[in-house]
Amino acid sequence: MDYNFIQKFHSGWAYLALLLLVVAVVNSLIGMTSKKEFTAKDRKIALFGLIATHIQLVVGLILYFVSPLGKASLGNMKDAALRLTSLEHPLINIIAIVLITVGWSRHKKLATSEAKFKSITVFYGLGLVLILARIPWKLWL
Ligand code: HEM
Repeated sequence: MDYNFIQKFHSGWAYLALLLLVVAVVNSLIGMTSKKEFTAKDRKIALFGLIATHIQLVVGLILYFVSPLGKASLGNMKDAALRLTSLEHPLINIIAIVLITVGWSRHKKLATSEAKFKSITVFYGLGLVLILARIPWKLWL
């Protein structure tokens, strides 16, 4: 697939994915602390965050194989910038997205509103922190 297109898509979609993740974390944190009932609206907000990050994951995986900064640079581990895009960013983001998915699955099984909000807050929140910790900011902004 065309590197330029995939790279631009991954770069642009990142804004949407991060925005929806932040909204999901803030919404569940508010729900948790103000002891609100977990409604269909809260479920949808969490679901949009999940879908947006999963799309970013799929595009990231494709990008990893077509980008000169992805798999192709795995041999250059002494270069911090290349280590970030070819190893740290992909690995940490996959872990983050697994955590977000666990938070989503757990919330479905939990019975109380408080527990549901807490599952989203903790797992999405942790995922968000991990993602932010390993974004190639210099490439992006
Ligand atoms: C929610 C998760 C993710 C977010 C928010 C994210 C965000 C970003 C951002 C902002 C950039 C810099 C783009 C630019 O140059 O403007 C980037 C680059 C990159 N990402 Fe991700 N990413 C995520 C997940 C992944 C995953 C899971 C992989 C691979 C398995 C991946 C592979 C890459 C690669 C290889 C680059 C460097 C591409 C290049 O410039 O050629 N990303 N990512």
